[in-house]
Amino acid sequence: MTFPKNFLWGGATAANQYEGGWNEGGKGESLADHMTAGSRVSPRRITKKIEDTFYYPASDGVDFYHRYKEDIALMAEMGFKVFRMSIAWTRIFPNGNDVEPNEEGLKFYDNVFDELNKYGIEPLVTIYHSDLPYNLTQEYDGWYSRELVDLYVRYCETIFTRYQNKVRYWLTFNEINTMTLPFVGALASGYLKDLKDGAEIFKVGDNPQIRYQALHQMLVASAKAVKLGHEINPDFQIGCMIAAAATYPLTCNPKDILLAQRREQLVVDYCGDVQVRGEYGHYAFPYLAELGVELTITDDDRQALKDGTVDFYSFSQYSSNCVTSDESAEKASGNLIGGAKNPYLEASDWGWQIDSEAMYFTLNRLYGRYGIPLMIVENGLGAMDTVEADGSIHDDYRIYYLKEHIEAMERAITNGVDLIGYTPWGCIDLVSGSTGEMDKRYGFVYVDKDNEGNGTFDRSRKDSFYWYKKVIESNGETLD
Ligand code: BG6
Repeated sequence: MTFPKNFLWGGATAANQYEGGWNEGGKGESLADHMTAGSRVSPRRITKKIEDTFYYPASDGVDFYHRYKEDIALMAEMGFKVFRMSIAWTRIFPNGNDVEPNEEGLKFYDNVFDELNKYGIEPLVTIYHSDLPYNLTQEYDGWYSRELVDLYVRYCETIFTRYQNKVRYWLTFNEINTMTLPFVGALASGYLKDLKDGAEIFKVGDNPQIRYQALHQMLVASAKAVKLGHEINPDFQIGCMIAAAATYPLTCNPKDILLAQRREQLVVDYCGDVQVRGEYGHYAFPYLAELGVELTITDDDRQALKDGTVDFYSFSQYSSNCVTSDESAEKASGNLIGGAKNPYLEASDWGWQIDSEAMYFTLNRLYGRYGIPLMIVENGLGAMDTVEADGSIHDDYRIYYLKEHIEAMERAITNGVDLIGYTPWGCIDLVSGSTGEMDKRYGFVYVDKDNEGNGTFDRSRKDSFYWYKKVIESNGETLD
């Protein structure tokens, strides 16, 4: 058998796309609650107030808040060993800086963890997944304000202490390295002073000095959380989470080779190096100098980064990207990071290039670089599904995509990579992060909800549900 006996098979979600109940149980408003629904053709927008005239898909997500028992039972039926979910900071501290935590919010996650425990499913908790308390963008300048480091650490202390006997696996920040991308990091920094009401979420205007200082503060907060978590419970396994899409040179033109190397360093390894090795890579400061960015790094920061290195490296990968010095090359999109079109690959309906070899490539590259356990915590095919008259959903395209990726994982393990888990994204259909729509589905379980938020929210099993159940049952041996 290739996969280790205790391999963590499961699925992944995030509160702001899945949970709903945005104003229930004492929850406060998050940045994600202010983002309108969009689609493949119309962009999501961010509004300063939550207006009646727009639909905000985080408000109801797919209603895990009220349906967690049903969803967890479905996960158990598939045989999940692990379930990746995030805690909404605003359920615990509605304003981010409240004096006391919100007991109702804490209780909600107690219930969820107890339910998972009932079926022997291990929770894997993302502490922060794109849902900064909105108040921290108003009373402070988001992550650009140093105070957020302590506020985040206090939030971590609260949940680490409360759930120390219920949760063992933690991820500090989802895809922290997307802060290196101007069009994503500008909003993710939570610095909203210059925000135009109703701006497109990927066009809010960038200031690299603010963005990289904010990212530095996130890295320090992450490291402090890792150290604190280990003090609270030495059994905790705390990981980083990086968007690690493979980068290829489009051609063997040496310029393309160097561009690919540079993209890996500046977009993927910039954060991974700090979180795994405890210090910035050699290329980081020369690059910042090129941008005219000067980071304020205190001695305490340096020490914190050294003391708070992660136990494992987790990452998302949906596709690969090509880079080239040829500006006329045809473009392709991807999970936030795009590139040039690869003539050898097909793409999803959203233009993300499908490439299971990239999984083998990335697993080997990352394990070679860091030598610590790896976990794939996001992967999958976003596709439109059709519900047949009898209610069945034949998603053979999704099965094919996942099968190829699992085969690549198998080969990487055979090649010596220490891969400990796999949680494909959106195991139960949820709201798309980039477009805010429902049409882009990843799940084994279909949710009856449309892009405007209409539907019964009823759950039904797709063909991939039965297929994945067999994969888990056979520990990855049966893929057909
Ligand atoms: C990752 C995010 O970027 O990709 C998820 O961590 C997101 O939140 C996922 O949903 C897939 O992207 P999308 O845009 O298809 O939902």
